[in-house]
Amino acid sequence: MTEQRSQTGAPLHHVVAAKQFTRELVSALFARAQELQAQLPGPPRRELEGRIMATLFYEPSTRTRLSFESAMLRLGGQVVSTENARDFSSAIKGETLEDSIRIVGGYADCIVLRHPEEGAAKRAAAISPVPVINAGDGPGEHPTQALLDLYTIATEVGRLDHIRLVLVGDLANGRTVHSLSQLLSMYPGLHATLVAPDRLRMSPNLVAQLLAGGAEVEETTDLLAAVENADVVYQTRIQTERMVEPWTADEAELSRFRITEETMRGLPASAIVMHPLPRVGEIDPAVDDDPRAAYFRQARNGVPVRMALLSTVLGR
Ligand code: CP
Repeated sequence: MTEQRSQTGAPLHHVVAAKQFTRELVSALFARAQELQAQLPGPPRRELEGRIMATLFYEPSTRTRLSFESAMLRLGGQVVSTENARDFSSAIKGETLEDSIRIVGGYADCIVLRHPEEGAAKRAAAISPVPVINAGDGPGEHPTQALLDLYTIATEVGRLDHIRLVLVGDLANGRTVHSLSQLLSMYPGLHATLVAPDRLRMSPNLVAQLLAGGAEVEETTDLLAAVENADVVYQTRIQTERMVEPWTADEAELSRFRITEETMRGLPASAIVMHPLPRVGEIDPAVDDDPRAAYFRQARNGVPVRMALLSTVLGR
């Protein structure tokens, strides 16, 4: 998909999928994010003064909702918000997503939407009077997480081409992995090693997309061997909440996919470990003080990247 210009000429309007981003747009966003990050926390800014962002979250969130809200407030804008929208919005009375979006679109200048159904952000964008930003749609996509992940790789590894990426964990249901692998495959020389339990392997469709984008892809269950030449190890949580069949964990099997001090001993000195968080045991906290553990820095990058995104979507 090409860049989508809004009626006001902004280079982005709705942000629904990773494939909307071109390399040029990513470069411009990252340049802006770096500039903004260098000035944080800094004195109050006024770029988005008078603008209102609504956060409409039908699923729990700590990082995405609060970093979007922080980003908007830091740009001088204001926020209206409903967390747990499934219970605390009129969805509980049976209002459709489409009707809620039409209404909230009359109260705010953009809507940041998290929803449990894949495709919900696209449905919302189709009828919304204001830009919709996808903050995660079920197992589908999480494009703004992918942007901050890419920003983290760019700033910590120092390049986006010829990245040796090891994706670990739930590659079937992890939406952040879906969006990040698509964004990274815009850059030449991507080598992706997929390390997942058999039930949680990446879908053939997504693997085919990566291959079609020119990436080399290999699959293994040997995490220790996979990390030996990595630039980036991207760990993910098992998304039990998305599983149709009850998840019965084989602890012995899962332990082979955990990042521990032993994994870190095999990791190159220049590599980084990322995780979109929250983690629930798949990275041993003993690893946190290792300078290669980048996941808390990655989460902090959410604010400047989302500031850059909001100022691009809402800038006048
Ligand atoms: N990474 C991420 O999406 O975290 P939250 O679920 O806390 O927003």
